[in-house]
Amino acid sequence: MDLLEAIKKRHAVRQFTDKKIEGDIKKNLLDIIDECNGESGLKIQLCLEDEDIFKGGFIGRFSSFNNVKNCIAIVGKKFKDLDEKAGYYGEKIVIKATQLGLNTCWAAGGYNKSKINVEIEKGEKLVIVIAIGYGIDEGKTHKVKPLEKLGYAKDKMPQWFRKGLESAQLAPTARNQQKFKFTLLNENLVKAETSFGFFTKIDLGIAKYHFEVGADSKEWSWK
Ligand SMILES: Cc1cc2nc3c(=O)[nH]c(=O)nc-3n(C[C@H](O)[C@H](O)[C@H](O)COP(=O)(O)O)c2cc1C
Repeated sequence: MDLLEAIKKRHAVRQFTDKKIEGDIKKNLLDIIDECNGESGLKIQLCLEDEDIFKGGFIGRFSSFNNVKNCIAIVGKKFKDLDEKAGYYGEKIVIKATQLGLNTCWAAGGYNKSKINVEIEKGEKLVIVIAIGYGIDEGKTHKVKPLEKLGYAKDKMPQWFRKGLESAQLAPTARNQQKFKFTLLNENLVKAETSFGFFTKIDLGIAKYHFEVGADSKEWSWK
């Protein structure tokens, strides 16, 4: 399964079986996390077999997550583009996890921050987590905004730009809000922006990763 196929296959999955993440799958997951940390300076950490994070009390009763035993915690230094980076690299891991046969769901809430056993140093923060494991199913397709609302080109959209948009259209966003927008400024320069709102910077990073995969071509760059 290539990256674009994985992007098409991925859906949010919040309920998991007891099957453990182990062996080569675990190794591959740790490798992509290492790679992302090396590239980004983030401190993304894998928490395995820790049921308490998504369980108990108010959180457990009211969330739609069930039997979440593992998660990816995205930790990083508090700097200006931390949220966008968290989204970009988190989604790179999500898509790799999809290729490995795993299921995921980004989670801004529904888990217990105080129970999460990760290293967070002074000046760093836990941005968000991603529930991960073997889902009870593959999730389902959600409604998406039309391409015209997600992207703009003054003249006819070139093929690579349209493909980038189609891939970004499938990006997970908080509450499926899809507030990001891509504009083709000249023949090879793309501006990515988002309107204000909760988690929109994380969403933007996720959508930018999707756009890059879809518009796989060297003839353009980000503004
Ligand atoms: C930044 C972010 C935060 C999210 N937070 C939650 C959450 O707290 N609880 C939840 O059930 N789903 C959460 N989601 C999952 C979205 O609801 C889901 O991705 C969206 O509805 C689109 O569905 P899809 O991922 O199947 O395409 C979050 C997604 C993103 C990108």
